[in-house]
Amino acid sequence: MSYDLIVIGAGPGGYECAIRASQLGMKVGCVEKRDALGGTCLNVGCIPSKAMLHASEAYDELSHLEPMGISVSNVALDLPKMMDFKQEAIDGNTKGVEFLFKKNKIDWLKGTGKILGTGKVEVTDSDGVAVVHEAKNIVIATGSDVAQLPGITVDEETIVSSTGALELKAVPERLLIIGAGVIGLELGSVWKRLGSKVTVVEYLDHVLPGMDGEVSKTFGRILKKQKFDLKLGHKVSSVEKTGSGLAVSVEPAAGGDAEVIEADVVLVAIGRVAYTDGLGCKEVGIETDERGRVVIDDQFATSLAGVYAIGDVVVGPMLAHKAMEEGTVLAEKLDGQLPHINHDAIPGVVYTHPEVASVGKTTEQLKAEGVEVNVGKFPFTANGRAKANRTTDGFVKIIADKKTDAVLGVHIIGAGAGEMIHEAVAVIEFGGSSEDIARMCHAHPTMSEAIKEAAMDVTGSPIHM
Ligand code: FAD
Ligand code: NAI
Repeated sequence: MSYDLIVIGAGPGGYECAIRASQLGMKVGCVEKRDALGGTCLNVGCIPSKAMLHASEAYDELSHLEPMGISVSNVALDLPKMMDFKQEAIDGNTKGVEFLFKKNKIDWLKGTGKILGTGKVEVTDSDGVAVVHEAKNIVIATGSDVAQLPGITVDEETIVSSTGALELKAVPERLLIIGAGVIGLELGSVWKRLGSKVTVVEYLDHVLPGMDGEVSKTFGRILKKQKFDLKLGHKVSSVEKTGSGLAVSVEPAAGGDAEVIEADVVLVAIGRVAYTDGLGCKEVGIETDERGRVVIDDQFATSLAGVYAIGDVVVGPMLAHKAMEEGTVLAEKLDGQLPHINHDAIPGVVYTHPEVASVGKTTEQLKAEGVEVNVGKFPFTANGRAKANRTTDGFVKIIADKKTDAVLGVHIIGAGAGEMIHEAVAVIEFGGSSEDIARMCHAHPTMSEAIKEAAMDVTGSPIHM
């Protein structure tokens, strides 16, 4: 078969690229080896984890309604049913992508794709039958895989990755998580709300590395208040199976005596790595970097003519919406358009409670760049809606350029922060200032008013503090 475009991988990056290319009149094939479309995100990532976060939050909330004058008794957990709820979310979304492929006349080339050279992709199906397809252009969108911890073998039963942690058959009494990153804290929140005692072992001295330092520090305090047992500045040296569960040796990262912590399940959540297994990069001269990522130029072009790459498999944050933006933009570039992507305005959200959301630069990044800034902050304890809802944990922090007042970074801890952050994304995208936000009317009473007040605090004074 001959195509204008073959996309390898049907995750958020690949499926958006395929759909936009088809909308623009290209004949498109998309190679995917999973039994369902949607990649990591829809099958074992964003969607199932958010379904479990939503369900576990509802369960947990029922035990905390008493201050509102609501007493609920006989709250019971039916975990298999909750897992069915999660599966329905996955199926609804993956089937949705399948529908969009049919609607846009995209061929799902079922199997594993291997690049044979410019314009040639071999697809091998589950029976081992290989077919070579031709294409004017090829896009690598093969995503990422779980990073392994040497010496600790994931069996997806008691020692699990995020995939196994979304499939547990029973609520573990004691869950030990290696890594206080996004996965560790989101999935730790799920199982904590469902009843596990959660210990998180983190190599660094703070949670959520890469976030603004003040946010990491405050969020660590909030987690401790929620009774997460945080062992910061520690590492796991071994996990042994015992008759009663797992014996986990934990030692200070800087060296010192190890202690043994008993657990029923260990979740390894120390990051993800670019996935190019079996793709044939080396054989055809597609360059990868020291972290296994496909090297691209600013047009997403790899070192092999006619081959491009996007999403988790290339440089940048491993986020579904970053992959999606790159997919759409690349399809438009291949159509000869001049689309735009601003890698400085990609939000990041941690879907815990409260949520953590961020866009733009952190205080630490700007300091390292020598940029002089003004900072405004507003706590949710002073926000009317937060007080009414009793969701007063957290704050909004706005960092603006000292000379121009342009907003450079916005960092929020707060209930609904993941929705609120888009106001900040829009302001940064349009080159707006803190004064622009401060002079925008915000509906009352909303949590978003804290963004306006933080903006007022950048160069002046907020009203409610
Ligand atoms: P992927 O989604 O990884 O898709 C790549 C696809 O390519 C896969 O389906 C794979 O089977 C296929 N493939 C690979 N090699 C081949 C081959 N040779 N031939 C055929 N097919 C191949 N991000 C967010 O933005 N928000 C979230 O809330 C969020 N939650 C997450 C929760 C978890 C537990 C995890 C693990 C990740 C989460 N992420 C989240 C990250 C997000 O899933 C990724 O950033 C996103 O899926 C990357 O998209 P992608 O298209 O680059 O790759
Ligand atoms: P991460 O990079 O966010 O966090 C990994 C953590 O493990 C870091 O804090 C790191 O210091 C720590 N660590 C590494 N080695 C360690 C060791 N030996 N001992 C103890 N701690 C160690 O990676 P995570 O949480 O696995 O997530 C992977 C990717 O998936 C992230 O890049 C993230 O972008 C994406 N993701 C995004 C989500 C979202 O947007 N809400 C949700 C879940 C995942």
